Amino acid sequence: MTSLEWLSKLSEIEKEFYDLKGKVNSSQIQETFLSKKGKLTLLLRELGNFSIEERKILGKKGNLLKEKILSFLKESKDELFSFRKYSFDIDATLPAQLLNQSLLHPITITLNKIVESFTKLGFSIEWGPLIEEDYYNFEALNFPPYHPARDMQDTFYTEITDNQKKKYLLRTHTSSVQIRTMLKYKPPLRVISFGKVFRSEAVDATHSFVFHQLEGFYVDENVSMAELKWTLEFFIKDIFGNNASIRFSPSYFPFVEPGAQVEVSCVFCGGKDKNCRVCHGNGWIEMLGAGVIHPNVLKNCNYDYEKWSGFAFGAGIERFAMLIFGIDDMRLLYENDLRLLRQIY
Ligand code: FA5
Repeated sequence: MTSLEWLSKLSEIEKEFYDLKGKVNSSQIQETFLSKKGKLTLLLRELGNFSIEERKILGKKGNLLKEKILSFLKESKDELFSFRKYSFDIDATLPAQLLNQSLLHPITITLNKIVESFTKLGFSIEWGPLIEEDYYNFEALNFPPYHPARDMQDTFYTEITDNQKKKYLLRTHTSSVQIRTMLKYKPPLRVISFGKVFRSEAVDATHSFVFHQLEGFYVDENVSMAELKWTLEFFIKDIFGNNASIRFSPSYFPFVEPGAQVEVSCVFCGGKDKNCRVCHGNGWIEMLGAGVIHPNVLKNCNYDYEKWSGFAFGAGIERFAMLIFGIDDMRLLYENDLRLLRQIY
């Protein structure tokens, strides 16, 4: 390269620098001209091939451009710092602003605890639809169309019918999943299911028209009421601790025989407050329905009821949430009032 060629290269670089100055940021300018492989760096390196006299003249011009670029870079850096300094006056000693974190709802926490407890006993999980066929919700569970027990679970009926003229309703309990599961699998079975259920119900501190249930059932050879009692006692003590007491009293559900209502001791008043909104002073809260699966139900699922027997139970999740978190009115669980939800955590 001759000295003239070197000088014309230098003026090309200078022109490019002025062109780029307003258009790209300072680190791109640094990269293009002054980095190890930058255009000006490489050109200055060529000076080694010239005589001492030429080097002095050319080097002076080259360094002048280098100074210009460096002072441009310094100015942009100072601007950046002054902008930071005056625009954001940060006081790092102030307490941090709390973020609104999303956390699990008490009903979900309760469900997780319950599911964990049953998975310890080897129960697996099955699902059923919320809009259910009358057949699975009632008929196959031994509630024929005229059966008075249907009145206890009045619900919301849909006008949906399909070409087979099936009737659909919002499921009143999770017991429908018993039928769906038994039709799908052969025994032995140990299954839980959970989710929303719907009833035409007057709302009060312990009743809602949409609530959550957990269903559990076990089918094997020679299953009896004794295994049901052991399982539910294990479960209640696992959730509430060894001091929790439970009691069984006879009850009627068409799909079990014998049937029982299972109550847990009231944590709010221990039975000492006649005006207790939860137990009304009797010391017990109804938490579950349970019993030995009726042979008609096994028959409807094509199980040989002479060989197989089973137990089943259904629990109200909200009632468990109330006892776990000390909430004395179920309605509070649906109101999304942060004053309640913040006390949970
Ligand atoms: C049933 O729903 C039966 N399917 C339970 C069952 C399953 C019995 C398997 C036998 C074998 P029941 O209507 O009692 O039963 O409801 C079960 C539980 O749901 C009650 O113990 C209660 O904890 C809860 N529950 C019932 N009605 C309501 C309501 N309106 N609001 C909130 N929880 C309720």
